[in-house]
Amino acid sequence: MSVEPPLDPEIPMSIGSGIPGLGIEVARVPEAVRRRVEAWRREGATVALVPTMGALHDGHRALVRAARAGADRVVVSIFVNPRQFGPSEDLATYPRTENDDLAALTEEAADLAWVPSPEVVYPPGFQTTVRAGALGQPMEGAHRPGFFDGVTTVVAKLFALVRPHRAYFGEKDYQQLLVVTRMAEDLDLGVEVVPVATVREPDGLALSSRNVRLSPSERALAPVLHRTLTRMAARLADGASDPATEAAWGRGRLREAGFGEVDYLDVRDPVTLEPVGRAGSPARVLAAAWLGDVRLIDNVPVV
Ligand code: PAF
Repeated sequence: MSVEPPLDPEIPMSIGSGIPGLGIEVARVPEAVRRRVEAWRREGATVALVPTMGALHDGHRALVRAARAGADRVVVSIFVNPRQFGPSEDLATYPRTENDDLAALTEEAADLAWVPSPEVVYPPGFQTTVRAGALGQPMEGAHRPGFFDGVTTVVAKLFALVRPHRAYFGEKDYQQLLVVTRMAEDLDLGVEVVPVATVREPDGLALSSRNVRLSPSERALAPVLHRTLTRMAARLADGASDPATEAAWGRGRLREAGFGEVDYLDVRDPVTLEPVGRAGSPARVLAAAWLGDVRLIDNVPVV
C-alpha cells in the first residue's frame, strides 16, 4: 500500500504503523489528523469516522466496511477512554491489542488510524465535560454513573478534531447510539450518525471486546441473553403479552440459566427510551446482565 508523504515536515505525523507489513497511516497527535483530513476535504473527499476503543472484532470490521461504503476516506480512532469507566470498572484490564488492530484496519483498507495517548486527549488542565441529557439517564446511565458524560465528551472531541461527514456506531450499544445522535443534533456538529446492525456469533451472542474474558462455561451460557430478548420481542410483537410480564419472565429466565445480577431488562420506546407500558406500542428490549465478572449488554427491536 503506498503512503502519502506528510503534508508538512514540521508536523509529527507517523507514516505507516512502524510495524513491518502494515501500511495504514497512524496519527498520534491532533495536528496530524487535522492536516490529513483538511487535505482530503480540499480534494472534495467525504470523510467517515469510526470511533472505537480497540480490541477490534468483526463488529468493528462491519463498522469500517459500512464507513468505506458511505464515504471516500475512513478514519478509525482507537482510544480506551478513561472518562467512561467508573472507579470499580475494568479500565486496567480492558483488552489492548494495538498491533492486531492496525493489522485489521490495514485489511479493511481504512485510511487513517487515530491512536492518541490519554495525555494527548486529556492534557493537564483539561476541565470540560459534555453532559448527556435524558436519553443518558436510565439503564446504562443509572448503572454506570458518568459513563455517558465520558462518551459524549470524547465523541464530541473526536467530531471536533476529525470533522467527519458521517460517523458509524453499532446498534449493540443502542442507548449510546441514541445519546450520540442527539448530541450531534443538539450541538449542530454537522455529523450524520449512521447506525450499523449488531454482528453476532452463529449462536446469537453479540460480538464484544469483553467476550474474550468469558470462561468456557460462561461462553456456553452467554447466548441465552440474546435468546431471551428475542423470545420476549416475539411475544410482544404478537401482542401475546405485556411489557411488565415479559420483563419479569426474562429476568427469571436469565437467573435460572445461571446469570448473576441483571442490571436491567427493559422494554422501552425505541426513540425516547421511555418505559413502554402497553402491549402493541413500538418498542425495543434492552438488557445488561453479568456472567461472572463480565457484563454483557444486548438489545433487539420489537417488530
Ligand atoms: O463504543 C465504544 O467503543 C466507545 O464508547 C466509544 C464510542 C469509542 C467512545 O469511547
